[in-house]
Parts: sequence; C-alpha cells; structure tokens
Amino acid sequence: MSITLHSPLDMHLHLRDGEMLQTVAPLSSETFAGAIVMPNLVPPVTTKEELIGYKARIQEAIGNDTFTPYMTLFFKPTYTKAFLESVKDELTAIKLYPAGITTNSEGGVSGFDIEELRPTLEAMSELEIPLCIHGETNGFVMDREAEFVAIYEKLATAFPKLTIIMEHITTKASVEALDKFDNLYATITLHHLLITLDDVAGGMLQPHLFCKPIAKRPEDREALRKVALEAHPKVMFGSDSAPHPQHAKEACGCAAGVFTAPIALQVLADLFKQHSTIENLQKFVSDNAKKIYKHITVPKKIVTLEKKPFVVPAKYGNVIPMYAGETLKYSIA
Ligand code: DOR
Ligand code: ZN
Repeated sequence: MSITLHSPLDMHLHLRDGEMLQTVAPLSSETFAGAIVMPNLVPPVTTKEELIGYKARIQEAIGNDTFTPYMTLFFKPTYTKAFLESVKDELTAIKLYPAGITTNSEGGVSGFDIEELRPTLEAMSELEIPLCIHGETNGFVMDREAEFVAIYEKLATAFPKLTIIMEHITTKASVEALDKFDNLYATITLHHLLITLDDVAGGMLQPHLFCKPIAKRPEDREALRKVALEAHPKVMFGSDSAPHPQHAKEACGCAAGVFTAPIALQVLADLFKQHSTIENLQKFVSDNAKKIYKHITVPKKIVTLEKKPFVVPAKYGNVIPMYAGETLKYSIA
C-alpha cells in the first residue's frame, strides 16, 4: 500500500550556498513542496539584498522543481520597524541564535536582555513575522535546552501576539512548555525522533549523528515521539538537515549537523507506520505548518511513498547522509 502526502514541508532546513547549495537543494526540492531556509551563511543573511540574492540562487539550484524557499533573516536587535516593513514581503520568519551556540552563529544575541530585544520583537509581533529560536543557553551541554525554557516562557509572556517557534526541540521540558503558552510552537527533526545520546557517543563516536542540540535521553525522545506521532497541532516537521563536507565531520573537531534531507520522508513514513499513526503524517509534515505559519502560500505537490527498499547512497557529493549505505523500507515512488 502506498502513502500519499500532499505538499510536504520542511520547516527548518540548511541549504548553504555555492557548490554545497547545488548539491543539496535539489535533494529537498525533489520531495518537499517548500522549506524554511536558515540564514546562517557566512556572513549570515541580514539585509534585504542578501535575502533576495540568496533566494534567487536557491531557485536557480532547484531548476524546475515545485518548491518554495521560505526565506529567513538572521536576527539582529538593531532591526527597526521601518526595516522590517521594507523586507516583510520577502521573508517568512526571522531566526534568532544565541551568540556562538552553533554553526555560524557568532553574530547572534548575547546576554538575552529582553529589554534590548523589545523594539525588534514588538515590531515583529505587529507585522506578524514569526520568531524562530535556537533555544540553548551556554550551560552544560545536556541541560542547555531545558535551561532555555525559562527564556522561552519569558518571551512568550512578554510578547503574547508574537508567534515563537522553538526550533528542533530535543527535551521533555520543551514539549511541556508547548501547552502552557498559546504562542509557543515547535519544530521536531527526524534524527531527534530516532536517536539518543547513546547512538552518538555510547559506542564508537558517530560524527554523522553529532548535532546541536545534542540528542538527549530516552525519555526525551519518548516525549518528542508522542507529540510528533499524534501530530500535536503545535508541532511540525523541520528536518534541520545540516550538510557539512565529509572532511569537516570526520575530523578532530567535528562540525555539528545531521544530513537527512534525502531520506526524511521515507524514514518518517516507516516510523509512523510502525506506530500505527500513518494517518497523522500529513498533519505533521504539512497541515500543522500551514496553520502555524498562517501567511505562507504552499504549492500543490503530491508525493507518493511505497513500501520498496531504498538503499541510501554512501554520499551525496561530499556529504554523508544519515543511514548511509543502509536499506530503508520505504522509497519515493
Ligand atoms: O547541528 C546543527 N547544525 N545545529 C544547528 O543549530 C546548526 C546546524 C548547522 O548549520 O550546521
Ligand atoms: Zn538548524
């Protein structure tokens, strides 16, 4: 029996630029109808010109595929309301990184003084621009996300009309925060539904599973699985597929990021089937996102998955995907 998905969306994706963009963009545009594209290029996307230029390069890289890149800016507390008004029609969201917390986030926010952020966040709220956040403190690596929940709660209270998306949540603590605030939402990755820290570092170190936030405990994964598999209306799929060249992963000093774009829908189909919740996959990979991001226009695209083995390539260009060389149960028809 095949599985039909209508306009699957990836609400958190790294496409990079240059040669890497050429390699990875078609792997998303083949199976997804659109994606929220992260702005952490070097230098990050912070101006209207950079954003428009990047969108054009993405569109060139995907050729004729039906795929909308939903563009984001890299949050700066210096963005004024006039600037945001001028760029509003070109973007879908703004991504906030704490300074230095992950790949190319050096120019992010340090200190997290809400008063310092207030003018920009108020303007975003008024203009209905969603705020996507990489929510980690600079505390102990396993506790960073849970510690950040207090900041999410402060922001959600201080800006009740602002749509706040807790990106790539990995903990039970973040799942619990979802239902406490009307304006808090979350993306969940494929890899955080599948792995725990044990898979990364329990045996021989697995660089291709190393990412930020780091995978957590089994009970955290259970909490994520529960809301994803039931397609809780406040969660949506965001792969956080984050390609790095093989030499940057298999190195002394491994770059953070798991590359999942080409396998995401196949593995999600298997996971939802195994849990007898396949009827919820459409909501998790598309319908919920359309409601949360109420201003997006989603192109029509039908993607069919069939129960037929798919051997994951060892490499795409110089990027090693998750499950490289392994056989998946589902393929794209
Ligand atoms: O693992 C990650 N990789 N986490 C992030 O937040 C950024 C990403 C990247 O850009 O490589
Ligand atoms: Zn990311």
